[in-house]
Amino acid sequence: MVDLMQKIVSLCKRRGFIFQSSEIYGGLANTWDYGPYGVELKNNVKHCWWKANVYEQDDIFGIDAAILMHPKVWKASGHLENFFDLKSDCKSCKLRFKTADLKDKEKCPECGGELTPPRPFNLMFKTTYGAVESDTSEVYFRPETAQGMFVNFLNILDSKHPKLPFGLAQIGKAFRNEVTPGNFTFRMREFEQMEIEYFVHPQDADKKLSEWIERRFNWYLNLGIKKENLRKRPHTKEELAHYAVACTDIEYHFPFGWAELEGIANRADFDLKQHAQFSGKDLRYFDEVKKERFYPYIIEPSGGVDRSVLAFLVNAYHEEKVKDDIRVVLKLHKDLAPIKVAVLPLLKNRPEIVELARKIARDLKKNFVSTYDDTAAIGKLYRRQDEIGTLYCVTVDVESLEDKKVTLRDRDTMQQDRISINQLREYLTDKLR
Ligand code: GAP
Repeated sequence: MVDLMQKIVSLCKRRGFIFQSSEIYGGLANTWDYGPYGVELKNNVKHCWWKANVYEQDDIFGIDAAILMHPKVWKASGHLENFFDLKSDCKSCKLRFKTADLKDKEKCPECGGELTPPRPFNLMFKTTYGAVESDTSEVYFRPETAQGMFVNFLNILDSKHPKLPFGLAQIGKAFRNEVTPGNFTFRMREFEQMEIEYFVHPQDADKKLSEWIERRFNWYLNLGIKKENLRKRPHTKEELAHYAVACTDIEYHFPFGWAELEGIANRADFDLKQHAQFSGKDLRYFDEVKKERFYPYIIEPSGGVDRSVLAFLVNAYHEEKVKDDIRVVLKLHKDLAPIKVAVLPLLKNRPEIVELARKIARDLKKNFVSTYDDTAAIGKLYRRQDEIGTLYCVTVDVESLEDKKVTLRDRDTMQQDRISINQLREYLTDKLR
């Protein structure tokens, strides 16, 4: 299974999905850059999430708040006080460990040396704000996108006048100075979150929490995650974050074990009450029918973009024996595949074929994310497209010049059909709908 992880890391680099950040300088540990196919896959994941949670809903509004926020936000949110990991350092080899990950809290798992007693380590990145030295103040890179939604609660009430229940949705970067990042893009210090803050009447909170857990679970299944590799895990009281009264994680069975993809929490009225207290603003909701003013509860489905991308990659990776060869294919869902169609000329030394293939590619680009490639023999071109999960390959050959037809190859079945160039767009539109 760990071998599978190595294969995925290697495919991601070889084919341009994910690269080590600042690699030419030796890399910055645990930071990663998305390459040409990685950024398409990541954008597709985000688009599917936005479509399901904003465009297809009547009661959820999108928002894009700033990463840097007023320092008081983190006092009110409890992050300055509570957002710590306990760490232990090895006195001999100087390695640092998250205490919770250690089986033996006194002995270094690497060299057997003596460990320091656990010490708290705040996970927030600090920076200074302002151009004039004497004027600068300390601010933090947000460790979650959530707070940008809580502090805009009043703005949304005043501009959209929504009735409960309603939600805000946001996708954006978050930063945590993790003690032990790792497992490729699973735990990073700079990552992206997709979060919803769903405001409900307190008496509806339990029901809405259950509904959201189901809804989010099904989102992963609908995008092709295998059911046997997805599970729900309710938190014990001890592991709940300082703001939550209940939480269930959606976990994926990665090659390194079951691990969290998303948490769906009931944050109760913690956040709005805290921000009301620290800002002095009245953040209660007014029910015009019942004439009552109260703090709504918040149900929060909070997922990681990078973790989802990694799960979709692991889930899609297939090796198949084809004749005497192994075919590596990413069987990504059609909505996630970075490239939908590749146009490939069978013979690149025939200018008429190349010209026709290029024309077809140019036309397809207007409707589908597509590519043109003539840099190798056809067998190799197919393998390359399989490895990045391209759904269809269109091959232009000598006969195409005569019969105005091309060969359309399906990624998963490898079945090849002859189809008229005129019908290509309609056919693909139908398949990719
Ligand atoms: N607002 C709630 C919140 O931030 P969280 O469980 O700490 O909750 C939510 O984070 C999601 O963000 C996680 O389920 C995970 O997918 C993602 N995430 C958290 N820390 C991460 C990290 N260091 N690297 C990558 N993704 C991370």
